[in-house]
Amino acid sequence: MSTDADASRAALADHYASQNLAAPPAMDAFWMPFTANRQFRHSPRLLASAEGMYYRDVEGRQILDGTAGLWCCNAGHARPRIVEAIARQAATLDFAPHFQMGSPLPFVVAERLKEIAPRPLDHVFFTNSGSESVDTALKIAIAWHRARGEGQRTKLVGREKAYHGVGFGGISVGGLPNNRKWFGPGLPGVDHLRHTLDIGRNAFSRGLPAHGVELAEDLERIVQLHDPSTIAAVIVEPISGSAGVILPPPGYLQRLREICDKYGILLVFDEVITGFGRVGAPFAAQRFGVTPDMMTVAKGLTSGCVPMGAVFVSERIHEAFMQGPEGAIDLFHGYTYSGHPLACAAALATLDTYAEEGLLTRALELEDYWADGLHALRGSSPHIIDIRNYGLIGAIELAPQDGAPGARGYQVLERAFRKGLLVRTTGDIVALSPPLIVERRHIDDIFSMLGEILSSL
Ligand SMILES: Cc1ncc(COP(=O)(O)O)c(C=O)c1O
Repeated sequence: MSTDADASRAALADHYASQNLAAPPAMDAFWMPFTANRQFRHSPRLLASAEGMYYRDVEGRQILDGTAGLWCCNAGHARPRIVEAIARQAATLDFAPHFQMGSPLPFVVAERLKEIAPRPLDHVFFTNSGSESVDTALKIAIAWHRARGEGQRTKLVGREKAYHGVGFGGISVGGLPNNRKWFGPGLPGVDHLRHTLDIGRNAFSRGLPAHGVELAEDLERIVQLHDPSTIAAVIVEPISGSAGVILPPPGYLQRLREICDKYGILLVFDEVITGFGRVGAPFAAQRFGVTPDMMTVAKGLTSGCVPMGAVFVSERIHEAFMQGPEGAIDLFHGYTYSGHPLACAAALATLDTYAEEGLLTRALELEDYWADGLHALRGSSPHIIDIRNYGLIGAIELAPQDGAPGARGYQVLERAFRKGLLVRTTGDIVALSPPLIVERRHIDDIFSMLGEILSSL
């Protein structure tokens, strides 16, 4: 008897043949990240190509991208200007070392990034991912205090339910138990603020939740517990995405800023998801009117085309590293691929695309329409316990099935894919973040498909 899995395997073989490749007899050599690998092999979801708002899977089915890939393809897929820039750059300068050597493009990209960043975040350190950006920012924070003669400030404060990537720094300040418990004690001297998700008081809020600003006072508690003079930095996502879309109550980020200022602590915003237009401004810092001392980014920087991340650093932090002898290396940190020519070419073409098409503020125009469609899903299933939105971000939280947390979320992911919609799930939370080129008709399609899936649960 032929099964869906047989059909998928046949389609896969056809796809490989069309690329002049032999289909692998098994799919177990590639150990997939954050994936139930054995389950996946039984029922693979394989994307083969992409253009604009759509993917196609290996069977040629069109799949509407409800998540900008993985929160990264903000300009949509296969945009000719970006594709051509990468190809041209690969043929011109494929790689250049940037340790005591240089190439032109990273300087250009850094200047362009400075133009859209909040002042005084005027300096840019390049990395290759969000995880590297986070670890870089934490290291710069500790090194900055040392450079100013406060080497005792080594402690870091993160937040529960935060996702800051998977480096040892990132999982230590992060607050997702599964990402931490397998990997030992993590960095010493780390504490965590309470998270701001409060479904009891804020369920089905449109936009920012009304309750919870007082949670910022948790920073006072932590600061007093550890002694303010030992704390280097506080890192938070202005809106946490990967943990299931957790929004800050109005005034919360402002209060964190005030407390950091009071005690000489650096404030780092992890804008890996919120950066590059996701919330209707180039960065969430601008939309929320709170300026951090450092900002970590990745994903939308190149619209996901080539891996690249960056850390924006304020003038006063940068300046402190520029005090030693001119011939001395000012920061003993960097990656072989920091400022990689292909990534820079992709970033430049992406920034041009964003500027030309007004994509960095487009989420603001669509926010109400998006929120209307999202919140209209409320009645589609009795299992929905919360809906959250901001900018072009949405989340639907489902009650967990008895004894099987995550099962409902996975059902939505799987059914959506088979129906032609890409969503992201974290446990029983379904998250949405379409490319910023999304049109109203795509928004209608996303919510119409989701409505059918949710009512079928
Ligand atoms: C806020 C935040 N920080 C860091 C990261 C890690 O980025 P990467 O997967 O590129 O290492 C992510 C990824 O989703 C993220 O959402």
